[in-house]
Amino acid sequence: MSIKPLRLEKVSRWFDAVEVLREVSLTITRGEFVAVVGPSGCGKTTLLNMLSGFDLPTSGSIERAGEVRMVYQQDGLFPWLTVAQNIALGLRQVKNASEQTQQINELVELIRLDGFENHYPHQLSGGMRQRVEMARALAGDSDILLLDEPFSAVDYLTRLRLRQELARLLDERPRTVVLVTHDIEEAAQLADRVIVLSERPARIRYELSISAPRPRDLTHPEVVSAIHRILTELGIEHDYEKTAGDNHFVAVE
Ligand SMILES: Nc1ncnc2c1ncn2[C@@H]1O[C@H](COP(=O)(O)OP(=O)(O)O)[C@@H](O)[C@H]1O
Ligand SMILES: [Mg+2]
Repeated sequence: MSIKPLRLEKVSRWFDAVEVLREVSLTITRGEFVAVVGPSGCGKTTLLNMLSGFDLPTSGSIERAGEVRMVYQQDGLFPWLTVAQNIALGLRQVKNASEQTQQINELVELIRLDGFENHYPHQLSGGMRQRVEMARALAGDSDILLLDEPFSAVDYLTRLRLRQELARLLDERPRTVVLVTHDIEEAAQLADRVIVLSERPARIRYELSISAPRPRDLTHPEVVSAIHRILTELGIEHDYEKTAGDNHFVAVE
């Protein structure tokens, strides 16, 4: 497989007279975890749709090597299918029924939902539903995972747990990941690289690499200083000393 699974070259996207993305160039290497943050409505979802191929750029070019899976904010599961059946949708390429069952069982175990295989989405909490979504996205051997604010619909504690869960799942089943989030803490705790977008039309305003080892504690000095940098780049006033002590930042939205 290519070393560069995703590459955007001067990608612009207009919707009628509205310019949403302006000449965004971005290269994502294999196995890299990139987080994208930026103001509400700046074009983050549009950027993900470019990366996935769901939408096409007005100008510029995109290279994509490998299969892509998307995880949305919420309610991406089919309500009339059980947990096992929803996960099975991610395993359509596995034709052998017993092998498919085995893989479903492994994934259910991985997301710690043993015993819930035959439950329907409405019988689960929001956090459990997001874990099923992650399991479905990780099923099979897709190369690239695109996540669009996957934890924004759950409460803060659940979000913290899901974040750890995602880090653990990726440790077990590595992928190339692009995570769109408005949660700066989430970006700093999870990503190898954080991309800060400008107001619409979105351009890459700032990029930051984070090399702290995983699993990362929110109080790790590099994570704290990354949060500080990102807030500064987003133009959000804050007190760095306070940042170091009180680690709850959900910015922008
Ligand atoms: N299919 C579309 N048709 C027209 N305008 C769109 C379409 N998709 C997005 N937009 C516009 O593009 C801008 C960016 O949207 P989006 O990418 O969803 O922002 P974000 O995810 O950063 O909140 C918004 O102003 C939105 O109205
Ligand atoms: Mg969006």
